Amino acid sequence: MRHVLSLFDLSSEEIRRVLEISSDLKSKLNAGNRPGLLEHQVMGLLFEKPSLRTRVSFETLIRQLGGSALFLGEDVGWGKREPLCDFMPILTSYLDVLVIRAKSHQQVVESTEFSKCPIINGLTDVSHPCQALADILTIQELAGGLSDVSIAYLGDANNVTYSLAVACSKLNIPLRIGAPEKYQFDPSFINQLNEAAGSTIISQTSDAVAAATNAAFVYTDVWTSMGQETESKQRLSDLADYQVNQDIMNATRDGAKFLHCLPARRGEEVTSEVIDSPQSAIIQQANNRLHAQKGLVVWLLNEASKDNE
Ligand code: CP
Ligand code: NVA
Repeated sequence: MRHVLSLFDLSSEEIRRVLEISSDLKSKLNAGNRPGLLEHQVMGLLFEKPSLRTRVSFETLIRQLGGSALFLGEDVGWGKREPLCDFMPILTSYLDVLVIRAKSHQQVVESTEFSKCPIINGLTDVSHPCQALADILTIQELAGGLSDVSIAYLGDANNVTYSLAVACSKLNIPLRIGAPEKYQFDPSFINQLNEAAGSTIISQTSDAVAAATNAAFVYTDVWTSMGQETESKQRLSDLADYQVNQDIMNATRDGAKFLHCLPARRGEEVTSEVIDSPQSAIIQQANNRLHAQKGLVVWLLNEASKDNE
């Protein structure tokens, strides 16, 4: 059975196929056509952290395709009320697909061992693959393809950056991460991505302007992710020089766009001047969560599952 906990779980061809389905279903939806590709299928959403985009886009997409969704909060007791070897087979025997937003990535990994249906990662402390799929779909739409694109990511190299980096290495999109050394990835992870890509497609620097120079897209995320609140003061001070402001945007190539996974903190990782400017593509990017995840779920349930037969 296939699960999507990270974009390492998909080949480059499979990511391209997911994006192809996403674009096709987006065009169909915009033309008023909602094919019943997941009729009567039930999606569970097991969430340990707050969410607007992930929760609502998953609930909406399954309904648009003829299925339904069940939201499960902390009261079901995942990892708390009974062991995973009891909890997971029972929960997943009711469902066709389960999306989990978790505090611990490791607990999601352990859960797959007992799962009877495919699991999709809806964000963990380590990765956010659904976000990266929507990011790439957005970049593809805005740039008219992926062949002449480069991305600068400024700030904390976190779960969102992790998935973006994996996507970029698999699709050969140059990505420069601008972050203080303490907030960069372990160099071994970058080496692993570059070896898989066959060239130096991902790089890290502590020079924010150098990272942004000539980039087609500038991406940032909050400096304090969910679960890191006690470090907030330290992070504000450590990351202050990595704010995406007009000086940073001035270093980019003409027509560059600004991206953010949201929620954002204006005045911290990005200024209002940038996020509210015509260069900002955040609404299109957030809307693409619906389409990218729709492509992922249709691919996972209707195509990837056939590999097992
Ligand atoms: N970007 C994102 O995952 O948003 P939510 O936390 O609102 O789901
Ligand atoms: N890095 C952020 C992303 C939120 C969508 C967090 O984990 O809180």
